[in-house]
Amino acid sequence: MKFKQSLVNQAGLDPARLPRHVAIIMDGNGRWAKKRSLERFEGHRRGVDVIEAMVTACRNATIGYLTLYAFSTENWQRPAEEVAGIMGLLKMFLAEKQTSLKANGIRLNAIGELGMLDDDVRAALNEAIELTAGCDDMVLTLALSYGGRAELTSAARRIAEDAVSGTLQNDDINADIVGEYLYTRDLPDPDLLIRTSGEMRISNFLLWQLAYSEIYVTDTLWPDFTEDEFVTILRDFAGRERRFGKLQSGG
Ligand code: FPP
Repeated sequence: MKFKQSLVNQAGLDPARLPRHVAIIMDGNGRWAKKRSLERFEGHRRGVDVIEAMVTACRNATIGYLTLYAFSTENWQRPAEEVAGIMGLLKMFLAEKQTSLKANGIRLNAIGELGMLDDDVRAALNEAIELTAGCDDMVLTLALSYGGRAELTSAARRIAEDAVSGTLQNDDINADIVGEYLYTRDLPDPDLLIRTSGEMRISNFLLWQLAYSEIYVTDTLWPDFTEDEFVTILRDFAGRERRFGKLQSGG
């Protein structure tokens, strides 16, 4: 990964109007491969190159948090061969990039039902998480075996347990407390959600956390996504007025 601090200057972006946290639904790897009569795996493989490019772009743009929907709870239902291919790419990414992540101040984080991952994948993940634990320039979160409903269900169960045991009082349960029971308790909510390949859905991703995120859907398939398009999206984001359900300022 090549890092430079100049993306914001180069692109003429206003640092004050950048998202602090970008979340991405990386979609379209299969269609990219099909269009070229390639195996789906080739689409995923090309997708990893784009992941690397986007981590670099976010680091260079001084975006503090990047969260990638890498594998959903539903993705376990794909053919075993495809799942194994994706897990192999993940392990390779972790092994090859962990040193570079650390050298560039990027802390790796993972959210999801990580217990569902095979032992070797979990071990590779934990190794990279431990190696980068002290990094504080950017947080790269991989959503793995992640589902928003499963996350909220697990939170509800633990909130109920704590309420029954008396650790938590019913009257004290508010949105901040619910947030404390989510995988993302240490992350700010995403400011910007990008979805590639044109589908207008959030597909069980960060259901709670995306409440007020700006959404940008591009028709570009993930393996074709570029830093240039990312800059276009950042420029679009910078021009949006975020009202969080309130009235327009001065209106
Ligand atoms: C979506 O395309 C992509 C996925 C479900 C898998 C993405 C995972 C990786 C690229 C590998 C993970 C590696 C790292 C480093 C996190 P799709 O298969 O749903 O495409 P389609 O909708 O066109 O079929």
